[in-house]
Amino acid sequence: MSDLVTVRLRVNGIEREGRCEPRKLLVDFLREDLGLTGTHVGCEHGICGACTIVLNGEAARSCIMLAVQADGSEILTVEGLMQNGKLHPLQEAFREHHGLQCGFCTPGMLMTALDFLKTNPSPTEAEVREGISAVLCRCTGYQGIVNAVQAAARTLGAARADRGT
Ligand code: FES
Ligand code: FES
Repeated sequence: MSDLVTVRLRVNGIEREGRCEPRKLLVDFLREDLGLTGTHVGCEHGICGACTIVLNGEAARSCIMLAVQADGSEILTVEGLMQNGKLHPLQEAFREHHGLQCGFCTPGMLMTALDFLKTNPSPTEAEVREGISAVLCRCTGYQGIVNAVQAAARTLGAARADRGT
């Protein structure tokens, strides 16, 4: 076994640290070393999007990156979406609009949609479809997911209007 390296990250607002082999993938580090199994592993080739997290503010695939490459980064995983015991509007919308069936793609969908809505807070259906196209869903036919992302966009927009931002 090669020498272990220390990886330090800020994950969901908490400083975390672990020791792993230099060849360990970030997704495996999150799941196995930090116990954050909400991020899923599908293809491990950067294709399916199940492993998508938000890394330093942008959606990124955690299966095509080594944990050591993420050392010092700020990461948001699906576990960090819920705040003060309350589901994130995207999570609520996925539940409400039947945006999931088996749920395997859902963490990647949520994190991708979160990043997408930051850059396009009021998307058309076509824009949502393009925005989430990097994540593959085998169950839903996508319509529920698209409806959910648009509904979440409306909720988040209304919240911003209330805050006057
Ligand atoms: S598991 Fe990372 S893209 Fe499929
Ligand atoms: S809900 Fe099953 S893969 Fe998307």
